[in-house]
Amino acid sequence: MYLKQIERFPDDFLFGASTSSFQVEGAAELDGRGKAIHDLAEKKIGITDFSTASDHYHRMEEDVELFHELGLNMYRFSMSWTRIMPDGKNINEEGLAFYNRLVDKLVSYGIEPLVTIYHFEYPYQLIEEFGGWLSPKGIDAYEAFAKVLFTHFGDRVKYWLTINEQDHVVKISERLGLPKESTGLAFERKLQQANYHMCVATAKVIQLAHQMMPDSKIGPAVNPMPAIPSSGNPKDLIAAMEFNELSHHYILDLHCRGKFSPIHWKYMQDRDICPKVKTEDLQLMAANPPDFIGINYYLNQTVAHSEQETIALRGQGVFCEEEAGIYQLAENELIPQTDWGWNICPEGLSISLMDVCNRYQLPMLITENGLGAYDEVVDGKIHDTYRIEYLQNHLAQIKHCLSMGFPILGYCAWSAIDLVSGREGMDKRYGFIYVNRTNEELRDLNRLKKDSFYWYQNVIQERGQSI
Ligand code: BG6
Repeated sequence: MYLKQIERFPDDFLFGASTSSFQVEGAAELDGRGKAIHDLAEKKIGITDFSTASDHYHRMEEDVELFHELGLNMYRFSMSWTRIMPDGKNINEEGLAFYNRLVDKLVSYGIEPLVTIYHFEYPYQLIEEFGGWLSPKGIDAYEAFAKVLFTHFGDRVKYWLTINEQDHVVKISERLGLPKESTGLAFERKLQQANYHMCVATAKVIQLAHQMMPDSKIGPAVNPMPAIPSSGNPKDLIAAMEFNELSHHYILDLHCRGKFSPIHWKYMQDRDICPKVKTEDLQLMAANPPDFIGINYYLNQTVAHSEQETIALRGQGVFCEEEAGIYQLAENELIPQTDWGWNICPEGLSISLMDVCNRYQLPMLITENGLGAYDEVVDGKIHDTYRIEYLQNHLAQIKHCLSMGFPILGYCAWSAIDLVSGREGMDKRYGFIYVNRTNEELRDLNRLKKDSFYWYQNVIQERGQSI
């Protein structure tokens, strides 16, 4: 829709940026930190090593000073479960001390902290003991960790995220401590049960947050990849709608309404993979909806209907090529791609914001959005015009949605500073601040401001007038 745009982003709109602990901190074996699931990544996920990452643990003060210079209103980060509770159960004072220093430093600069309680970093000990999220004991363990965070940081942290991308935790089995190539009925049932446990855990922690910190705002962060139909064939539109149900609505329906999406429930019934459900859990979810929904948006998908007339278990992986009998991913020549084959579709952000907000009637906070790219240092500078263009186009969509009156609290770009990408290590950079290391060499880890740093600084200063 063409409409009269707001001139600037609202005064209380939060311009921010994000990181996650295991991707940025390093110091993996220092000061009592315990092993988390990705520490076994070399064996389990086959990606780069996170032991030094961007060395933020040692350079936190310098980094926050750079965030302040950038002008951030909000900084999103996760608190490492195994730095604070190395075995998932007992407290490590040194872990608390690090995050106390970080939160104090942010607050001293007037930067609003947004804390992710759990961002893929699951204590290995709990996987060994009872299978982590696969067991109902995972709910209690997560609640106990959240309680520690609320007790120690609730006086200064108002905004919280419960679970980062539960939709992707379920789709990438290694994140649940399951072998990479797992398949089959029993495996699919485990995924659905783990998903259900995470929904119960989310409701419990939202309830706890509101009891312990009445002014707090808490919600999940999901990663919608809104599907658009590959043609004018109505079957492709239905396939796109079903894709969206099975990719993120099924989780948000539980979080926000305490109900299973009918399509998801039927999908599980047909495949005999329904989780064990208790009525009181659903009541707990319905009574404790989130205050806002965090949206991590990178890419959309184009889908066509699946020609197969069968009921099959899905293939593994985030970008599952085909759900037999439901949808298949399709090419779309109108949509360019990143070097890693991710579709670049800024309109997909509007589609997600409108869709999620209309369906759940809750405010939204963009908790991740950014471009992973190879960056090159030339004469001490990084001219990342491609990143600026990507961010600019996505911020324009947010401005458009704000102009239509959708309640959007803020925007946290991914990422504040270069960090170790989930699967590609340091080759795929996202930050406003360059970190001088590669996958092969640690180098001096010095920080360098990219062109996008100065661009975002200006956007924040003029509150998006030129977007
Ligand atoms: C999100 C995650 O899914 O995408 C981040 O929350 C991740 O942890 C980001 O880094 C980008 O993905 P990748 O694979 O390019 O690092």
